[in-house]
Amino acid sequence: MNVPWHFARLRGERVTLDLLRADDVEVLSAIQGDPAIVRYMLYEARSREQVIAAIERDSAHDCLERAGDYVQPAIRDADGQLVGTLYFTLVSTDDRTAEIGWLLSATARGKGYATEAAEIFLRIGFDELGLHRIAAELDPRNDASAAVCQRLGMRHEAHLRENMWLKGEWVDTAIYATLEQDYRRAHSEFRDADGR
Ligand SMILES: CC(C)(COP(=O)(O)OP(=O)(O)OC[C@H]1O[C@@H](n2cnc3c(N)ncnc32)[C@H](O)[C@@H]1OP(=O)(O)O)[C@@H](O)C(=O)NCCC(=O)NCCS
Repeated sequence: MNVPWHFARLRGERVTLDLLRADDVEVLSAIQGDPAIVRYMLYEARSREQVIAAIERDSAHDCLERAGDYVQPAIRDADGQLVGTLYFTLVSTDDRTAEIGWLLSATARGKGYATEAAEIFLRIGFDELGLHRIAAELDPRNDASAAVCQRLGMRHEAHLRENMWLKGEWVDTAIYATLEQDYRRAHSEFRDADGR
């Protein structure tokens, strides 16, 4: 694997990814403090103080080297407004595996921002880090998140039944993943179809 990998601002066609900042607290509190938005996240709706602590913690993570290392950059739109966050963590350097996740504000949905931000990290994962497999784990009731996985070309690999006690109930987990060879095949087909 090509580690250590250091995070620096990343630009897509419409979104930019950079580290969270202290002045993101208002917008991020509106997102992470909304029980409806975080319904399928592992955490409960966060208070402003918890969001401040999360920004402090996450903005200090800018390097991927060992299992468990993560980055959680802000997703910003063309105006530089915070619209959500992207999560990317190394699961194993021996197996060259990583996990990815996403979160958007209610008003930023339906524009493809989560898919675009995740695509940036799939490219980095396979082209720069040399990963073999990138997975996403989600509540199977989370149709919007499953749709992001499908748009990314991730395959639905597993449905774990009631493997977690979360927010007062047993919940299932869906696992989606893409392998390096799937990713390369999809992108070479895309290039061929596009004539590039
Ligand atoms: C999961 C979540 C990020 C998905 O958001 P989303 O806006 O549906 O996903 P994207 O940003 O990729 O946008 C895709 C939508 O934009 C549309 N779109 C519009 N322009 C587009 C473009 N240029 N490119 C791609 N999609 C575009 C797509 O058609 C799609 O709409 P549809 O669902 O009606 O078909 C969002 O629902 C969320 O934040 N949920 C709460 C947090 C959460 O549960 N996170 C996941 C935990 S596992």
